[in-house]
Amino acid sequence: MLDVADLTVRAGGAGEHTPVDGVGFTVGAGERLGLIGESGSGKSLTALALMGMLPPGCTARGSVRLQGRELLGLAEKDLRGVRGSGMTMVFQDALSALNPLVRVGRQVAEPLRRHRGMDARRAARTAVELLDQVGIPRPEQAARAHPARLSGGQRQRVCIAMALACRPRVLIADEPTTALDATVQADILGLLERSLDAVGEPRPALLFITHDLAVVSRVCDRLLVVHQGRIVEQGPAQDLLRAPEHSYTRTLVADAWALAHP
Ligand SMILES: Nc1ncnc2c1ncn2[C@@H]1O[C@H](COP(=O)(O)OP(=O)(O)O)[C@@H](O)[C@H]1O
Ligand SMILES: [Mg+2]
Repeated sequence: MLDVADLTVRAGGAGEHTPVDGVGFTVGAGERLGLIGESGSGKSLTALALMGMLPPGCTARGSVRLQGRELLGLAEKDLRGVRGSGMTMVFQDALSALNPLVRVGRQVAEPLRRHRGMDARRAARTAVELLDQVGIPRPEQAARAHPARLSGGQRQRVCIAMALACRPRVLIADEPTTALDATVQADILGLLERSLDAVGEPRPALLFITHDLAVVSRVCDRLLVVHQGRIVEQGPAQDLLRAPEHSYTRTLVADAWALAHP
């Protein structure tokens, strides 16, 4: 489904460096792949490179193929077609992922019009249904509100609804619960899993990015461990967490264990 080979991101400017260095992996159809590693290891830049959304000053080379189609180097207008129907993303910060000036319903309706060819009325109606499906109370009212009126958890629900509205082949979730209160984190994770199932066949593949091993062991089938921009270990999630081979993975697992059992 998604084939990444030798993906390298260079960050320019005075302190030129290589935050992502020769990363390669594949995500199969419907697979749930976790990308784990400490803060600053290059997880977000990897995700942004896949989406063609790198910040200014950063450049990617290598290969990112979605269903055989090379995405690196695609023109912005072609990439816009891919984002939405091919590969979508949920960010850590749902507030900045949404446009503060545009009503929630219109933001959810927008990809439905653009990628599913719905007219304005049908898209607006479907947006309210989607808000309802992701557990937003009083969805008609929420659709007319601006993002700032919703709680952090509700905003992330909106982002999940938008990301899956067009039944993408791949969903990238970059620390989707990290910014939320502990009490709502589990709800949002559960919602993400249910929402992926609700898309139906073909089930979207998931690239789940986190530094939280407890979360990843719940959600993912297979894991990639990234350290200083390189993948140092990969394997089935349960095996890798039970018997990590690389010293860095061992440290991650030991730290997570210590956190969970103070
Ligand atoms: N826009 C940018 N320009 C230059 N360097 C960046 C930029 N964004 C992140 N970096 C650097 O790249 C490295 C990886 O960042 P990031 O991918 O955000 O890590 P993670 O998501 O794993 O916490 C960090 O050292 C960070 O300082
Ligand atoms: Mg990050």
